[in-house]
Amino acid sequence: MRQLKLNKAFTLMESGPVVLVTTHDGQKDNVMTISWTMVMDFTPVFAITTGEWNYSYAALRKNKECVIAIPTVDMLDKVVGIGTCSGADTDKFSRFRLTPVQGKVVKSPLIKECLANIECKVIDIVKKHNIVVLEAVAAYVDTTRKEKRTIHAVGDGTFIVDGRKIDRRKMMASKLPYGV
Ligand SMILES: Cc1cc2nc3c(=O)[nH]c(=O)nc-3n(C[C@H](O)[C@H](O)[C@H](O)COP(=O)(O)O)c2cc1C
Repeated sequence: MRQLKLNKAFTLMESGPVVLVTTHDGQKDNVMTISWTMVMDFTPVFAITTGEWNYSYAALRKNKECVIAIPTVDMLDKVVGIGTCSGADTDKFSRFRLTPVQGKVVKSPLIKECLANIECKVIDIVKKHNIVVLEAVAAYVDTTRKEKRTIHAVGDGTFIVDGRKIDRRKMMASKLPYGV
């Protein structure tokens, strides 16, 4: 994976892909599927919505870090499988044949099979709304990957795949941060 400039990390999330969130609880790696995400700032700061009903949450809260890994459409069945079983009784890295890769900053693993990975620190938890606020500290993209289409959850068990990319960079120039 090639390191991506941090000021561009939000571009991995702005289109709202379904993501995988990895954690490490001190003993083992785990991963869950998250479709409720939001870019909160260019800096980059993100939010995910999750809570105590997931096994991952205890590790997120305790160690205050995770990795957001961005899967592509060829991984859809894995993404749904990961989101329909629990790390409480399943080694999901082994079951779904994911390769954990050590990042530079956090202990939670990157996922080698994903298009991109973002190492994150938990900087706030808004308990009332189950919002976990994350600050990215490093980002990576697999530039050698052929399949680059990410997936978007409708919420009823169906998904939308990335389509045509349309360029309005000139029109948006005044709103784009420097270097993006
Ligand atoms: C497509 C999809 C999207 C999901 N999105 C979310 C989400 O945004 N927030 C959440 O808390 N759980 C979400 N889930 C459910 C968790 O991924 C699921 O409860 C998972 O088993 C938790 O794993 P864990 O118990 O190992 O932490 C989603 C599941 C699927 C299949």
